[in-house]
Amino acid sequence: MKLDQSKKSERSIIEPFKIKMVEPLNLLQREERDLLLKKAGYNLFLLSAKHVTFDFLTDSGTSAMSSAQWGAMMTADESYAGSKSFERFSDTVRKITGYSHIIPTHQGRAAERLLFGALVKPGMKIPSNNHFDTTRANIEYLGAEAIDLVIPEGKDPALYHPFKGNIDLKKLEDFCAKYQKQIPLGMITITNNTGGGQPVSLENIREVSRIYKKYEIPFIMDVCRFAENSYFIRTREPSQKERSIQEIANETFSFADGCMMSGKKDGLSNIGGFIALKHEEWVSDLKNSLILTEGFPTYGGLAARDLEALAIGLEEALDEHYLEYRIAVSQYMARGLNEIGIPTVQPAGGHAVYIDAKSFLPQIPPHEFPGQSLVCEMYLAEGIRACEIGSVMFRDKASMELVRLAFPRRVYTQSHFDYILEGFEEIAARREELRGFRMTYEPPFLRHFTARFQPKS
Ligand code: F0G
Repeated sequence: MKLDQSKKSERSIIEPFKIKMVEPLNLLQREERDLLLKKAGYNLFLLSAKHVTFDFLTDSGTSAMSSAQWGAMMTADESYAGSKSFERFSDTVRKITGYSHIIPTHQGRAAERLLFGALVKPGMKIPSNNHFDTTRANIEYLGAEAIDLVIPEGKDPALYHPFKGNIDLKKLEDFCAKYQKQIPLGMITITNNTGGGQPVSLENIREVSRIYKKYEIPFIMDVCRFAENSYFIRTREPSQKERSIQEIANETFSFADGCMMSGKKDGLSNIGGFIALKHEEWVSDLKNSLILTEGFPTYGGLAARDLEALAIGLEEALDEHYLEYRIAVSQYMARGLNEIGIPTVQPAGGHAVYIDAKSFLPQIPPHEFPGQSLVCEMYLAEGIRACEIGSVMFRDKASMELVRLAFPRRVYTQSHFDYILEGFEEIAARREELRGFRMTYEPPFLRHFTARFQPKS
């Protein structure tokens, strides 16, 4: 992958792995996809994966695991309590985060439900840069409010800023001063998925930590893409360019009182997550709740083989060659799309490219879901499955109309990406023919998963 085609001297960034197991791609005709999409109510979550060629719905749980991960799964210790695999997992998380108390969960939202269940009461408010949709839903389910305080630059898709995931420090300080007593914990999400997979600088995390401390608010980070965030810090924050990814990650964690993580992203695993905490205060409440709903505290709803895969995945995600390739994928795709006139959030995010559907399809107003229209066209044209992040997902709270192409880790190769870009050229040529949609069914929570649509005539 060359990030700048004009530089003959620049060496390609290669996939830093060789492939030992393959799975065929599903190749269908447009007419077949047309029928399937209608049957799925124009919601790509309701399609069968066997009808999808390139699945960019999410980077979550979709990584290709390494031979080391598969190998460790075979030798995992499946004891109900105190297994060796749990010890390996908790030692790894302790080493990377520096936190003492490790509580495994089956995925990120289980960690959210447990932690918020213990701390959040109706009427409370939880600030962050942007809450991810499950985080927001878990907070709102408890009658509290999820508050987004990302910097204004983070809401302008076309604007370049190296750390568009940063929190607006002035707004955070004013918010904490005004609502101090109603804030059970303060958060930050790295990288900022909802805001375009954009990183947060180490300096911003340090300042956020200072503000939360000043108002005696516990600081819990959502760190499911902490390795990608650390790589961005190293490449974009001038004072950090000599440090290792591990050192940057360690310092990132040192600023908070704990974290929640979905291991399905930078854990390079298909399932798993955890809460890790510096202090003991909440631990027994959380473990009691864990036993009630997830399982014993040394497996937390996972098989020991999942804990092994996660322990190794967390280490592999910090490898510098892997991260260089990983970030190159989204930068390569963003550049390719921009060259054919498809606007994307600038700069490209870590795990995904976000197409600005509002500017690409100006004929479709937000209430007719321009992002949904584009994801349907991408499926029809190339069998791509991608996710709308706009008015379908966030109703009238959406500040942008984005389509996310989230890249599974270590799964697709450069020729796949080149083929996809060729298809996008055809979509760009037909952009004026695309029409909006009407929602015909809407569930009460997380509506994008099961909503159904009809195209406007
Ligand atoms: N926090 C962030 C920032 C996330 O991106 C996700 C999941 C979660 C929490 C919840 O973790 O899925 O393990 O329960 N994001 C996935 C995505 C689903 O596609 O972006 P989970």
